[in-house]
Amino acid sequence: MPWSSFRAHFPVARRWAFFDHAAVAPIPDTAIVALEEYGRRIAENGLADILHWVDRVAYVRGLAARLVNSPSPDDVCFVPNTTTGIGIVAEGFPWKAGDNVVLAAEEYPSNQYPWLNLAHRGVEVRTVPSRGNRVAIDDARAAMNERTRVLSASFVQFASGFRADLDALGELCRSRGVFFFVDAIQGLGAFPLDVQKTPIDALAADGHKWLLAPEGAGIAYIRREWVERLHAINIGAHSVVKPFEYASIDFRLKPHSGRFEGGALNIPGISALGESLLLLLEAGIENVSHRVLDLTDYLCERAPSAGLKVFSSREAGEKSGIVSLVPERVSPKELMKRCRDAGVIVNVRAGRVRVSPHAYNTEGEIDRFLDVARSLNSKTHGAA
Ligand SMILES: Cc1ncc(COP(=O)(O)O)c(C=O)c1O
Repeated sequence: MPWSSFRAHFPVARRWAFFDHAAVAPIPDTAIVALEEYGRRIAENGLADILHWVDRVAYVRGLAARLVNSPSPDDVCFVPNTTTGIGIVAEGFPWKAGDNVVLAAEEYPSNQYPWLNLAHRGVEVRTVPSRGNRVAIDDARAAMNERTRVLSASFVQFASGFRADLDALGELCRSRGVFFFVDAIQGLGAFPLDVQKTPIDALAADGHKWLLAPEGAGIAYIRREWVERLHAINIGAHSVVKPFEYASIDFRLKPHSGRFEGGALNIPGISALGESLLLLLEAGIENVSHRVLDLTDYLCERAPSAGLKVFSSREAGEKSGIVSLVPERVSPKELMKRCRDAGVIVNVRAGRVRVSPHAYNTEGEIDRFLDVARSLNSKTHGAA
């Protein structure tokens, strides 16, 4: 699919040069149709239409399984956010007092608090210091000891944009018998991820960033051999092998990740997520990743000429869709504000400007951002 056809699915592009997919992404027109269809059908039919939605959820589960190459669609469950997926592991892991979990010091708070919340069970959180714009695998190894049970890493760091080498981290974990959890939200949709190739034990990502879906409709993958070893939380009527036999209580949990779904699902969100997944899969995640990297390379090559220092690592394998920039003469917040006035959406994280384009963005839109930075920079420079 040519990128212009892909772009035609994004109404946001009519008004904004939108570069904040690392925060909350706009959804494609096909996902809007899915949301509208849900509204109309539920209004006209209520539960009488339930089989349609059961089939629809199964279809979207299949797409999500395709995205991560999960061995079976049953290994993917829907979660209302990334946090819930992290909690499945953090709360359910068979910890013993004195065990520890290793995280990068710069992880997004949702990948810190659930682990810090385990102190009452005697679980220690050990952090890997970052080397400015990157988290080195040797530092992760050095942070581990014989009591390390879990490593929880972001696919891509939310502030610096550093993309982890999941294969290398996974191998490190395998070699030490450590559970490998991936907070995938800042990479999934933009970069390929294959759970049959990379030794990931579990991952989670809400839909609202690189998956281009609404908030509150996320996915988690739990490797089958861990399902029985994690104490299941969030157990409800949908967790058991006979979920719709309300008259008899038969407490046998589903033998797969479906046990973690518990109760009613966000069907409109999941249905819309299905359209976003379809669009991404049809474009091809490998192609999407090349496009995202081409756009961010374009930005990084020109950023210095607009008075912006590139903070993110741009090494092959470490670069991502997130570019963190340090304006030389203006404050990041001022630049963000001026951009918005000019119809360009960027954000500020960790005191730097964060620019996160997706595959439907264009070089022309990046030029618009650079023009704002350049003009602000030269005005400030002239006044000084
Ligand atoms: C690395 C990372 N994890 C998680 C989240 C969001 O978590 P949740 O889906 O639970 O709101 C974000 C959002 O910014 C993030 O950047």
